Amino acid sequence: MKLSTTTAQNSFKYGWLLSRIWPYIKPYWFRITLGFLVAIPLGLLDGVTAFALKPYMDYVIGGKNLEFTLFNHNFVIYSMQMAKLLPIAVVLFAGFQGLLRYLNGYLSTWTSQRITNDVKFDLFHRLIHMHPQFFDENSSGIIISRYMGDPQTASAGIVDQIKTITTSVFGALGLIAVMLFSSWKLAIIGVIVLCVAFVPVALIRKRIKEASNKNMVIGGNITTNINETYSGNKVMAAYELQDRQEKYFREQTWDSFKINMSLYKRSGWMSPIMYLIASVGIATVLGVGTYLINSGEMTAGSFASFVTSLLLLYKPVKTLGNTLTGIQNLFVALGRVFELFDLKPEIVDSPNAVELNGFYNSINFNHVDFEYIEEHPVLKDFNLSVSKNEALAIVGNSGGGKSTLVNLLPRFYDVKSGSITIDGIDIRKFTLKSLRKNISMVFQDNFLYSGTVKENIMMGNPYASDEELKQAIKSAHLEETIEELPNGIDTMLGERGLTLSGGQRQRVAIARAMLRNAPIVILDEATSALDNESEAIVQKAMDNLMRNRTVFIIAHRLSTIKNANRIAVINEGELVELGTHEELMNIQDGHYKALYEMQFKKQEVLQ
Ligand SMILES: Nc1ncnc2c1ncn2[C@@H]1O[C@H](COP(=O)(O)OP(=O)(O)OP(=O)(O)O)[C@@H](O)[C@H]1O
Ligand SMILES: [Mg+2]
Repeated sequence: MKLSTTTAQNSFKYGWLLSRIWPYIKPYWFRITLGFLVAIPLGLLDGVTAFALKPYMDYVIGGKNLEFTLFNHNFVIYSMQMAKLLPIAVVLFAGFQGLLRYLNGYLSTWTSQRITNDVKFDLFHRLIHMHPQFFDENSSGIIISRYMGDPQTASAGIVDQIKTITTSVFGALGLIAVMLFSSWKLAIIGVIVLCVAFVPVALIRKRIKEASNKNMVIGGNITTNINETYSGNKVMAAYELQDRQEKYFREQTWDSFKINMSLYKRSGWMSPIMYLIASVGIATVLGVGTYLINSGEMTAGSFASFVTSLLLLYKPVKTLGNTLTGIQNLFVALGRVFELFDLKPEIVDSPNAVELNGFYNSINFNHVDFEYIEEHPVLKDFNLSVSKNEALAIVGNSGGGKSTLVNLLPRFYDVKSGSITIDGIDIRKFTLKSLRKNISMVFQDNFLYSGTVKENIMMGNPYASDEELKQAIKSAHLEETIEELPNGIDTMLGERGLTLSGGQRQRVAIARAMLRNAPIVILDEATSALDNESEAIVQKAMDNLMRNRTVFIIAHRLSTIKNANRIAVINEGELVELGTHEELMNIQDGHYKALYEMQFKKQEVLQ
């Protein structure tokens, strides 16, 4: 399945998405609620600031005393006392607000990161069990943005939105309360103006979404470009592809620039317009306010509180407007995340799968048809029987289907029709794990992970003893190579094992396969030429690996072919010839003979 870079089908089923994310939120409900509770006073505190202006204006500047009755006692706060109390209150208040803000920030960061982690853990678990074709079809850029970027946006977004919405809603409510308390008439005018000012926000939400989708596509392409620049750096240097890569990068970055600018052109007028509408509102309030103060309906202090509240109200309301877009992005990301959750690996254990514990007689390919892309057959009616402990060399033209054939055995791909059997049992009846445990593979490209040499070899069998490890290294003829490395077997290899030579990498891969000690061995001989000395040593290592095992070896070298019991010649996905070297050489105008004349004879002369 090819992943899309933009929206997923389910991005608009809000209820469904929330029910899917709920299990991830649930474990942290207590802390989230606590954060929610802290956000309420935090929001309300804005109102207090505005409210404090009233006593300051009326009692301190106005020189009045505050008299009030509490529990049947009369209290008086004199103007001068108020003048001293208020500054202290301001500082205490700021301290309290700071404390709440820290607590709230801590709780929301903690919970959002924990939820993100949990989602990422589960997604990565699914990713590593996807079938190879999934990786064939999706570029690394898309995988990175969809498996790492989206969970961040989705999970962190939920908690952040809860936090922002609570603080803003309660902030707005607190300020509106102060406004109503100061003058309900003015408050109605203020609220109406604010509502009108936010109409443009609703109008341009769709445009923002379109642009952010386009940006995501470009982001994925840029990541792929950087990955390819990295992995292909030698090819780039050799073929002077720097200009090409740079051109792509510049084009993609400019595309992103254009999208952002066009977005701004279409939405940038919104903010100034909002300010304009708001200023009309404030002008109206000032006019009406002056009238109310003059007519004695309102004190100057109340008016100051009111205007401050109105100005402060702009922020939470604007934040709420922005969260609308934020929430939309959140649901898009959630939709994309849960689309990944619902991807099923195509190669899985069948129900009632049994364990494969070694084998006794033979491995058979029965009328196997296979294709990667529909209507483009790669293997056609392929029949072959390999008996236990036989070494079968597979030769043929490039692109004929040799690697494909051996990739079917560990079920990297499943046959389209026909079957592959081990001792007469279809390999689809075995558990994947046990099937693959019985196969040691050395690939054409010999991928090594970043880590030490030892780690890379031990991947063959993590439980191997030191003695077994030593033996594997010896059989792979790696002893000398390892001795020469700066830290011996604990030397760190670069990403993809790049600090080793081709032949050395191949032998590390052979040692890894050796340690696995599986009855079936698949060797996809590297096509890259090695010098004679390395070739001889790799050959010895391979001979050791092949001893007493059932071997499928895709051979490009005459020496390997001659070591095999039989040779299978594959041409255009069909088994065209099968037999020993001598038998095949006797076929007049045969494929093998032609290959021999073309490729192998030269090697024989060289040896
Ligand atoms: N992952 C893939 N997706 C789609 N097509 C593929 C894939 N891998 C291989 N093919 C196609 O299948 C055909 C057989 O490829 P395969 O790798 O099996 O050839 P090969 O015999 O191993 O060649 P070589 O000797 O060059 O390694 C080729 O036409 C190739 O383009
Ligand atoms: Mg191949």
